[in-house]
Amino acid sequence: MKLLKILDPFFHLKNPLVMLLLGGTEANLMAIRAARNMAREEKDIGNIDSENGYSIPEIIVPKSAHFSFKKAADLLNLKLIEADLDENYRVDIESVKKNISDNTIAIVGVAGTTELGMIDPIEDLSKLAHDNDIYFHVDAAFGGFSIPFLKDFGYEMPVFDFSLEGGVSSITVDPHKMGLAPIPSGGGIIFREKKYLDVMAVKSPYLTSKEQSTIVGTRLGAPAAATWAIMQYMGREGYAKNANECMINSEFLADALFKEDFELIVEPELNIVAFTHPEIPTDDLANMLEEKGWMVSVSSYPKAIRIVLMGGI
Ligand SMILES: Cc1ncc(COP(=O)(O)O)c(C=O)c1O
Repeated sequence: MKLLKILDPFFHLKNPLVMLLLGGTEANLMAIRAARNMAREEKDIGNIDSENGYSIPEIIVPKSAHFSFKKAADLLNLKLIEADLDENYRVDIESVKKNISDNTIAIVGVAGTTELGMIDPIEDLSKLAHDNDIYFHVDAAFGGFSIPFLKDFGYEMPVFDFSLEGGVSSITVDPHKMGLAPIPSGGGIIFREKKYLDVMAVKSPYLTSKEQSTIVGTRLGAPAAATWAIMQYMGREGYAKNANECMINSEFLADALFKEDFELIVEPELNIVAFTHPEIPTDDLANMLEEKGWMVSVSSYPKAIRIVLMGGI
């Protein structure tokens, strides 16, 4: 599928396996299912063993990871281990390292966390996963449509994609977030190798394609067409301009809040600004803003008002 080619030609992967799914949740679920099935097949992890019984496969995700990984762990019968974060709310690599065991089947890094927009140390995670021969998934549902373009405007952005030597197995990217596509033009997933799709394939005998690796079966064609149309319309230049404007607005808001004595949780790394007030409890602040017509979300960790500064067409 050529649809996501606009993204640094498929995040620097020569022969990408790309699928457009319903959302980031489905994409993350698919990545973790690929990891689980690979571990069963290649490492005999998670298979029932008559002598030793059964040990539950484990996935290590940052504490900041989207709750879709909780769904994945529940559906796929995995133990979810949440690694600690550092003082900037990026995953602490030492905590990930400490949690690796013989049953680890996947490590997850996030490029643009849901609540704060932080980018985990993907390069270090990728190396760690590679050295330990563990599947490494990058959830770039939020950041995937801005990080590559912000570099065009001189923002220093960490490398988070397949150009990292050997380490990244799959990447989630959501056209219906910063790609500005209509919902549900959901999660795109890009796999590094075909074996990850093969290991999930089930026979679909009555269809023209004889195997299916996706979780959802029959689905809408219209979102794919709409996503294609918006990508033609925006082009790389359009997305870069949008990502840059979102950053300018985020920095403006962060500066203004800082000058008014609000406390920023972190300097915005992407277009999310999270803040608290030294005296007003966050829930009260959210209610006060609602009374003024501003419906804002409250992040869970840390608790703060969270504003995502999106652009438009
Ligand atoms: C980083 C990240 N991953 C996954 C998801 C899930 O995406 P969706 O709601 O499209 O399933 C989100 C949603 O906000 C997200 O921010």
